Order: sequence, then C-alpha cells, then structure tokens
Amino acid sequence: MAVSPLKKGRLEPVPRMQPAMMMFSSKYWARRGLSLDSAMLDQQRVGAPASRRPSFGPIDEKSDRDTRVQEDESGKTTVVFALKNEVGCLVKALRLFQEKGVNLAHIESRRSKRRASEVEIYADCNCSKGEFRDLVQHLKLQLSISSLTSPENTLSEEEELDGVPWFPRKISELDQCAHRVLMYGTELDADHPGFKDTVYRQRRKYFVEVAMNYKFGLPIPRIEYTPEEVKTWGVVFRELTKLYPTHACREYLKNLPLLTKHCGYREDNIPQLEDVSNFLRERSGFMVRPVAGYLSPRDFLAGLAYRVFNCTQYVRHSTDPLYTPEPDTCHELLGHVPLLADPKFAQFSQEIGLASLGALDEDVQKLATCYFFTIEFGLCKQEGQLRAYGAGLLSSIGELKHALSDKASVKMFEPKTTCYQECLITTFQDVYFVSESFEEAKEQMREFAKTIQRPFSVYYNPYTQSVDLLKDTRSIENVVQDLRSDLTTVCDALAKMNKYLGI
Ligand SMILES: [Fe+2]
Repeated sequence: MAVSPLKKGRLEPVPRMQPAMMMFSSKYWARRGLSLDSAMLDQQRVGAPASRRPSFGPIDEKSDRDTRVQEDESGKTTVVFALKNEVGCLVKALRLFQEKGVNLAHIESRRSKRRASEVEIYADCNCSKGEFRDLVQHLKLQLSISSLTSPENTLSEEEELDGVPWFPRKISELDQCAHRVLMYGTELDADHPGFKDTVYRQRRKYFVEVAMNYKFGLPIPRIEYTPEEVKTWGVVFRELTKLYPTHACREYLKNLPLLTKHCGYREDNIPQLEDVSNFLRERSGFMVRPVAGYLSPRDFLAGLAYRVFNCTQYVRHSTDPLYTPEPDTCHELLGHVPLLADPKFAQFSQEIGLASLGALDEDVQKLATCYFFTIEFGLCKQEGQLRAYGAGLLSSIGELKHALSDKASVKMFEPKTTCYQECLITTFQDVYFVSESFEEAKEQMREFAKTIQRPFSVYYNPYTQSVDLLKDTRSIENVVQDLRSDLTTVCDALAKMNKYLGI
C-alpha cells in the first residue's frame, strides 16, 4: 500500500511503492535482465508456439479459412476452400485439378462450420505457385465456389503473422501467458516485510504452486487462509470500507454489497477466487484466474482481451497490513473485482486487451500506460464530484485520499497523450486522469486502437471465446452476419415495442 498510517501512527500519507505500479514497472524486467517480452522470446526459442499451418485437426480453429495458400520449397502447396454443397461440385473441382496438371497429394472434405450449406475442401498439391494461381482462377470461373478469395490477395497465416509477436488465439492459450511469470512471489526483495520470515516465504511458495498448476477450465483451488492472514485482510477491509462511501465511484458502491452477499466479502473472511470468478461471469462475463507473480504487460493485457483477470491469491505480510510492495489478494479483491463486475467497465478493460494482441512492443507499452492511468489509477466524474475507480487507489488509503484532495493534479483522460505520462513507482502519481464515463473511455480506446500498427483487426468471438483476425472479405463477412443477426433481434424488439405503444 502507499501508506501505513496505522502502524506508523501518522496522519499524513507517506508515499510508498504502489502494488499496481509494479505490474508495469521496468524495474523488475531490468533487474532480472528481462526486456518487455524476453519471456516470450524464451518461449519462442524452445519452440512452444503452435504451428499456424492449416490442417483438419480437430482443435485447429485456424483451418476455418476459406482459401489459404502455402508453398514450401519442395513445391508442395496447401489450400482450403469452400464449395456449395451441391451434387457434382467436388467432381468438377477435381477435374480442374487434373486439367491444370496439379497433382493432388492429399485431400479431405468436411461440412463447413460456418455454413451448413457448404463443404470445405482441404487439399495438398504438388505444383508451382503460378500453376496453382491458374487453377484457382479456373475454379472461380467455372464453379459456384461461394467463398473463394483471390490468392493474390490472400496471405497465409505464416506470411500474415510474420514478425507479429505471438498472442493467444483462444482462451485456453492464456495458460501459456499466465505461466510465463517474470518474477515469482517467492523471490522477495531484501526490503520486503516478509524477507526474513521463513514461514511466510514457505507460504508464498505454496501460492506459487497453486497458480502454476492451474489451467483454464479447472476450478480455482480454495485456499484455507490462516487466522493471521484473515486478520491482515480484516484490517485492510475495515479501513478501506470507511473511505468508500465518499471516495469510490457509483459502480463500485453498487457492487460491493453484492460481493458481500454472494462471495463473502467480510472483515472476518477472505473471499475465494472461485466464488468471485463465478460471480463476475454472471455479471459481466469476466473471470479471474490465479497467477504466481508478475507477468509482462503483453501477457497481462492478453488476459483482458478474453475477459480474464490474473489475480494473486497470497496475503501481504502481517507486520504491515496497510502496505504491500506488490499486488496481493487484498488489492485484487478490493481494488479490481468490484469494478470488473460492471459491464461497461468490463468492455472498456477488454478493449485495451484486444488492442494489445499482436501489437509492437512500443504500442503495448502505450496501452499498458493507459491501463495504468485508468484501471489502476483512474478517476471519474459523478454528480459533479471526482470519484475513484482505479484499483491502485481503491486499495490504498493514502493515495485514495490524496487523489481526491486539492493537492492532486487532474487531467482529462485522452489515450494519445495519457500514453506518454510517466508511471511513478515510489511516490503518488504526478497527475491523475479523469473520464466522464466508462462508455466514453471505451470509445476513446477504440479510436486509439486504430493507431496501433497491426496487419489485421481483431474480433472477439464470445461464442467460442476466441479471437478472429479480420483481414479478408470472408472473415469480415462472417462478422457482418453475426451483427446482422443481432440487428434482426433488435429490430424485432423495436417492432414489438412500437406495436405495444401503438406507434
Ligand atoms: Fe492491479
């Protein structure tokens, strides 16, 4: 925490290291000899990323492309295309392969996952790229191929993502991100309150094991917190809840009682992440997962893209309940969770995450700074007054008071300028940023995301909890179809309403 007024017996806040800042501090990367994405590079070195080649394997969703062409040095080319499911269509296509002298080494067909009226053909061919293009042109001319895109305009996934940093394409791949911890919770600094406490360090080791053994889809292990840990949480809970009515934003105040009711937010009880996750899923579609320590900004923000928040489960050291040099479960549960239950805030958070997928390092850093000055230290205006919604503020007595006092400097949140603001580590922030609403902040982030350099746009598919790359007409068409379906529902509801109102 930023201050420890109870222990020190002081009224004035003493700036201390902020837990939230640590997440994006370069201090730890530098000290550990790690660059922004060095952990990712390490992973790439050991060949962990899955192949992006198309295949008809059961879990490779990337094969759901209309037409992709890949050509290796041996002259082998792979293509996937969609045909209307009509009698004789496949025979005609195969005849063209024969006429163009394209040797088929392997062919498979399956019903299209996109449209029931289509069949997808996967073919390995031996030919030159020129021969293949000739073949594709004739396929387009002579067959009722519903979704063939021009190979000249089609990049293979490998070509398309060449040089693009790896990022998870589906929610289960977040396991790779969450396990790529830059610094484990057992590696305490010499000035950490628990540095010399062997029992505390042993306990932290246990929390690391819990997090590292966790995989997407598993229930989050319930922790049997010790009386000492509960007591520490109780002090934090009691002191902060005194401030919330006058300092926290409306959304926070609405959700805190619900968390008390459904997740056991009480002074004498530390809520369990599994209960919190289930609650959030119902409220905003967010979920939490345990994490062992610090993640890189890229890995942390990737979780937000899937509405997944990485949470620590350990409790700060008992000798200084109102101070922690790192984010602990008090910070996560009291700072972050109540806001994550708000649908508009959840959308805003996801927007930052989606913008980070596949972005360059410098862009990820800008997004991390925007994250820092909003989700961690953001202010909003409500009924003419400033209120806090940032978790770094809502979990820190000293800085919460400071940020809403006359001493604090406040500016309007504007991503393109906020992203250059310095994130301070050992003191209160020089400036805090205020948003009129989460809706407005989300729109601003959307606009800002357009400036991120990526050869594609991303679309989050909530049904499959995966990310689609929008880079050709077919992928965009699929999104349009989804939107059309939603619009039909809205139009139908409007028509019914009008009829009811007699308009
Ligand atoms: Fe945080």
